[in-house]
Amino acid sequence: MDRVIAGAVVAHQGTVLLIRRRVPEGDLVWQFPAGQIKLGESAEQAASREASPLEVAGAAWVSLMAERIPGFRRWGSTSLSRRCPDRRAQGAITGSPTAWHDQLVPADRLKPLTLTAGEFRLRPPSVDEHMEVLALGVDPDVRLWNPRCQITDAASAVRDCLAGADWSDGTHATFSIIDNGSGRYAGNIALHGIDRAHARAKVGYRIAPWTRGQGVATAAVRSVVSWALSDLGLTRLALTHGVENPASCRVAQKAGFDLAYTMPMAKRFGDGQLHDEHLHVLVAPTAAVGN
Ligand SMILES: CC(C)(COP(=O)(O)OP(=O)(O)OC[C@H]1O[C@@H](n2cnc3c(N)ncnc32)[C@H](O)[C@@H]1OP(=O)(O)O)[C@@H](O)C(=O)NCCC(=O)NCCS
Repeated sequence: MDRVIAGAVVAHQGTVLLIRRRVPEGDLVWQFPAGQIKLGESAEQAASREASPLEVAGAAWVSLMAERIPGFRRWGSTSLSRRCPDRRAQGAITGSPTAWHDQLVPADRLKPLTLTAGEFRLRPPSVDEHMEVLALGVDPDVRLWNPRCQITDAASAVRDCLAGADWSDGTHATFSIIDNGSGRYAGNIALHGIDRAHARAKVGYRIAPWTRGQGVATAAVRSVVSWALSDLGLTRLALTHGVENPASCRVAQKAGFDLAYTMPMAKRFGDGQLHDEHLHVLVAPTAAVGN
């Protein structure tokens, strides 16, 4: 049975209270105070229980804000706001719940574009390069360290190109790396898991064996990072790799990602074994907690 969650929106003196919570994936994320509605409990009681340890002096409950049970997949969201003397904050939380929700989690489409990385350009994949995409996809190091890459034949290479070129759901921006001089395909880099609500995404890459060792991965990561922070306004980028992959670790470091921690037995790689992974994180230099 689906869990039904109640959340509380606590507004005070022009600010909205968010708390930091560790999610099952291990990340610390900012959320409204929220928790599961227990048996026999109303949504208001659950929201009150979740928010009560975070008492704001002089605040009072105002109203039920929204309750959503859309489509066939039942989930409910009941929010309580607190009386707030600041009119701007009150306006922000008393509008139409649906409009307010959509502002919070925009379904931003991404428009495909081309970036520059030194002597290389990054542009959406094309099926014209599918045989080189296949050659990279079956490279032993890619088979080992890029388990998300499932390219085994020409048809799956074409599918990979088509999926990479379709940015319409806003969750990824996938680029082929092209040598400006020769026009030759040199690899793949993707900003994926794009989460505009939390201003974060992940970076993944694989470089063709015929192009490795020339700084291409590093230049491509730097280019994508710069675009993601400036144009997309993201503030946190993550990059993971198997700890036994020192070349990728070096790329992460050179591109400005700090090693956050080692995740034990984090992923099953291409050899079928579970391996430890490094989590590297890059936070926008201008990012400040609360933004
Ligand atoms: C890892 C990979 C992306 C690196 O691409 P690249 O374009 O060759 O990377 P760069 O040239 O920008 O930088 C590589 C760095 O790793 C270093 N390096 C390479 N092999 C290394 C090794 N075995 N041990 C330590 N460092 C190593 C290089 O010396 C270089 O660092 P430097 O510039 O300080 O000398 C590429 O080798 C690849 O695609 N490998 C197979 C798939 C893969 O590992 N994908 C990443 C999954 S997270």
